[in-house]
This record gives sequence, structure tokens and C-alpha cells, in this order.
Amino acid sequence: YVIGIDLGTSSVKTLLVDQNGDIKGEASAAYPLIHERPGYSEQNPEEWVTGTISCLKQLFQESGVSPEDIDGVSYSGQMHGLVLLDADNNVLRNAILWNDTRTTAECREIEQKLGDQLLSITKNAALEGFTLPKILWVQKHEPELFAKAAKFVLPKDYLRYRMTGRVEMEISDAAGTLLLNVAEGQWSEEVAGAFGLPAGFCPPIVGSTEATGTVLPEFAQLSGLSTSTKVFGGGADNACGAVGAGIVQKGDALSSIGTSGVVLTYEEDKNKDFAGKVHFFNHAHPGAFYAMGVTLAAGYSLSWFKDSLAPELSFNEFLEPVATIAPGSDGLLFTPYLVGERTPHADSVIRGSFIGLSGTHRREHMARAVMEGITFSLAESLELFRQAGIAVDRVISIGGGAKNPVWLQMQADIFGTPVVSLKNEQGPAMGAAMMAAVGSGWFRSLKDCAEQFIDYVATYEPIPANVETYSRLFKLYQQVYS
Ligand code: XUL
Repeated sequence: YVIGIDLGTSSVKTLLVDQNGDIKGEASAAYPLIHERPGYSEQNPEEWVTGTISCLKQLFQESGVSPEDIDGVSYSGQMHGLVLLDADNNVLRNAILWNDTRTTAECREIEQKLGDQLLSITKNAALEGFTLPKILWVQKHEPELFAKAAKFVLPKDYLRYRMTGRVEMEISDAAGTLLLNVAEGQWSEEVAGAFGLPAGFCPPIVGSTEATGTVLPEFAQLSGLSTSTKVFGGGADNACGAVGAGIVQKGDALSSIGTSGVVLTYEEDKNKDFAGKVHFFNHAHPGAFYAMGVTLAAGYSLSWFKDSLAPELSFNEFLEPVATIAPGSDGLLFTPYLVGERTPHADSVIRGSFIGLSGTHRREHMARAVMEGITFSLAESLELFRQAGIAVDRVISIGGGAKNPVWLQMQADIFGTPVVSLKNEQGPAMGAAMMAAVGSGWFRSLKDCAEQFIDYVATYEPIPANVETYSRLFKLYQQVYS
């Protein structure tokens, strides 16, 4: 068996998986977000450790699997979160998370100081969510605390440190710090030097399926794991979501609709240039990359709408009448900018809209327009990939968008590609388990593992008349922002 640990933003989920890729146990534990001020979002790293320990104990109790039979453990982690450590590896303050937006001034400072180097080295634009702006914020606002900081890690790398005693940073997560030379897969001395970060501040880089030690006796005792179980690097949650959906080769793109939405595609060319319009990160597959666009309020837009108008209904009940409304929602258009937008506009101030409301519109028209607006927003990322010469032959849909046949068909019609869903969707925890499976030597590569572990069901083909309607509306949608 292997275990995948998905250290998310609201909870940690552990998955026990056998050699066929079948799920033999599952446990999760929630922890709180700390919002001391508007825009602040923090967490106490100790909660990740205690949550993981309680999940692992539950996993062993409920499955009856012996700890000695666990070959490997690996991780998926919420990205970008800053965990500052002192010289003895003690945590210096609460972690500042990816969805914390206090760092706009630091982003401007990074742009000014690095100029063109920002894109040529890090491949990404300076966004509030990324780690370097958070480091600079602490440097500026908490200088006494920062003086004690010897190094930093990301959330799941901290958890791995607590399990193994080794302070290392895994590459697909390191890519989201703005401190990595993404094409070379090495820390950038130019960037670290430009901001006066001490030597050793960035820990050694490890690969996603690379062995990073075994479980410490102390952690084994608390969790029930065996000290002989091997621990592997893991990946950023988006990289793990991609691996868990089989995005390990060219041609497939992922459309993931959770609270936020992500469109992501596999890439091998390290010099691909998106001019910072989409994120470009190292993939978990060695030497590969992925390009990613983010819609901040994807599923969130629909749950906001349902909770505002029909909190008493389930999602299925709420969405049922949507199937009776024709593509285009009878002239109603929605933009999902409820909390701003990341791709393609990188604008935290813009807000959403309904446009074209008429007296004939009912709740189901609006619900459909919300789903269409979310999907148009994801299609804008897909369009950027296509403009950069990436061929997208098929989209694999996961999350909320994969749970509803109307939405699956809508994605096929708006994206203009066949859309498939997974037979047994487990999210990033499955990607993490696959990294442990490859690391443990069960498979030669993540691609081989995906062939064994992942099954697709139900293909939705684009319907030509709908494609035509949507391509006309998409052009209108794209004008609403300006
Ligand atoms: C990606 C991002 C989020 C987090 C969520 O850039 O900020 O998707 O990874 O954990």
C-alpha cells in the first residue's frame, strides 16, 4: 500500500491506496483559517501536524492494514504558504497562506527591482498569493522576527520535515515561490540576492517522486506509521490534481472547478513564453512543466448564487431546471469576478456582473448564466494556451464541473473539445499516492502509474450549433471586463 496526504487549505485528507489504484481507506481532519484583519489568511502549522496524525491513526484503525505494509507516503500541498523557521527549525509565526492578499505593495516592489528578470527567471508575474511577496512583507513589517528567520518552507514541506526531520523543498511547490529559476529547476541567486535573503534561506530542492528519508520514531509512535515506511517529495496541489487526473502527457488539459477554478496543461518546452499571463510551474513529472490559468470565484460563484437564492435546495435540485434553458441563457451574461480575477486580468479589485437581465428571465436562466460565465472565464485561459501554440485535444474535467452532465456538455461546447470525467475522482490526494507508488518502485514513471490507476468515463463531444452560439457569446463576454 501507499498513502497520499493532501494538505489542503481547510482540511487534510489521507488516502490509502493498493497496487491496483483502489482506495482502501480515507480519513480527513479540518482546521481553521485565521483572519486577523481583512485580507489576512493564516494558519498554525501545528494544526497540519496534529490533523495528519489523527487521520493516519483513523486510517489504520478503520482499514485494518498493517503499518509494515505501507511502502511509501507522499504529499499534495496547498501552494505558496510561507512557513518561516529559525536556525533550530522552530516555526517563527503563523503561516501566511496563498489566499492572503496583504502584499500588493511588495508585488510592485518585486516588479520594480527585478524588471524583465522577473519573467525571464521565475516565468511568473508577481501576485499577492505567491511566497516571495509574503517574505518581503515579514521582512518589512516584523523585522525583529525576520532577523531570527534562517529558512522558509511551504506547507506540505513543513509537514514532511516533521515526519522525517529533513528540511527540503519539493520542486513543483518551489516553482510557486518566485524564487526559483523555473526553466533550470534551481533556486535563483539573483532573486534571493536582490532582496537580501540570507544564504541557506531556500532549502535544498527535491523531486516529487524522490526519496526524502523515512518516518522518525517519534512521528511513527504518534501516528501509527512504521519507521521503515519511505517518504517521497510530493507536489503542489495543482500538480497533484493534474497527476491524479492523468495529465502527464501532451494534448490533455485539466479543467478543475472547485471554489476556485483551474485550467492547466502539460508542457515540455522549458522556454515556452506566456509573458506572465498564465502561471508556468515545474510539474511533478521530472523535466516537465505545466501552464495554468486560475478563475478565483469558479464554484464559489455558483454556491454564492445558490446560497443567496435557494439555500434550502441541494445543488442537484437547484441545477435540475438548468437543463431546460438553451445555451446562451436567453441573452443573459454573467462575469464571475466576485472576489476579483486572476487569469487573464490579474485584477483583485474588479467585481462581477449580470448583463442583459430581462423580465422573462427566471432563476434557472441566471443559474445557467453563472455556469456559462465560469466556463467562459476558464476558456479565456485555454485561449491563452492555444495562442501560445499548445494543442488541446481533450479536456479532463474534475470537481464541481464534472458532477453535472449539463456542465460537462457546456464545457465541451465552450472549450470546443471533447470533455471526459474520471471514473473514481479522488483529487490531489490520489496524485500524491501515485508519487509514493512511483517512488516505491511500483512503476517506472507517473505516466505508467496513470495508465494503471486512472479510468475515464463518459466523453462529451462538442455539439456544432452550441459551439457556434458560444463562440459568439465568448467574444461578448471578453468585452465585459473592459
Ligand atoms: C495556485 C493557488 C491555489 C492554491 C490552492 O496558484 O494559489 O490553487 O494552490 O492551494
